[in-house]
Amino acid sequence: MGSDAVLGVIGGSGLYDIDGLENTRWVKVDTPFGDPSDELLTGELGGQRLVFLPRHGRGHRIPPSDLNFRANIHALKQLGVTEILSVSAVGSLKANLPPGTFVVIDQFIDRTFAREKSFFGAGLVAHVGLGHPVCGRLGDLIEAALVELDVPHQRRGTYMVMEGPQFSTIAESTLYRTWGCDVIGMTNMPEAKLAREAEMCYATVAMVTDYDCWHEDHDHVSVDAVIRVVIANAGRARALVTALAPRIAGRDGACAQGCHNALDAAIMTAPSH
Ligand code: ADE
Repeated sequence: MGSDAVLGVIGGSGLYDIDGLENTRWVKVDTPFGDPSDELLTGELGGQRLVFLPRHGRGHRIPPSDLNFRANIHALKQLGVTEILSVSAVGSLKANLPPGTFVVIDQFIDRTFAREKSFFGAGLVAHVGLGHPVCGRLGDLIEAALVELDVPHQRRGTYMVMEGPQFSTIAESTLYRTWGCDVIGMTNMPEAKLAREAEMCYATVAMVTDYDCWHEDHDHVSVDAVIRVVIANAGRARALVTALAPRIAGRDGACAQGCHNALDAAIMTAPSH
């Protein structure tokens, strides 16, 4: 059984706490890459060990481009996290994904350019595979939880990650639609890349809050609109965590996709003599 599993939850806009978490403790974690966004909340949920990190810090004080993604993933790893559920608010790039839809992401296009993207570099060179940037097993468990909760969702989707902090122009939004992207947001890269380098299973649930600025029948995205939808959906995001925890506890063995061994064939640098 999955007694070795520790579920990490990275909460974006709208997910700032975990319902029913027991034996809780906020823990300060130091990392070689600096400070994570906040202290991390550890506890147990339905018998499953869980670590929660508010991505933007409590009170939402850190903008996407200033997030210390390396410190966040390093801190989760230090606390033993094996699988990460990343929750984010996103804009919709498809007419059939209205606000309120949850998308279990399976692909990303990373257009960010002002962020540290790797734990590796001069001295130790590594290239992990990202063909499948999220864990399919974790995605299946998330989908099963969404089905149980009767939350409107789509099982697969491509998340366009933009730098921000400004929202897109109509030309940009229209371009991303021609690329086949489903949703757009500012936060899940390089998070997903770093989770792979840290050999952790990672999956994103993207909560649609708006139609960005391409849809002629809908207002352009605004923070007001995002917050309104995020508040309306916060209960469902928390219910998802509650429904997912026992599924993580019951999952068996190491990840068949190889997330937990991603570095086995990734290091280029010769061992020192
Ligand atoms: N987060 C929520 N809605 C968004 C949008 N339209 N673009 C980028 N990030 C978002």
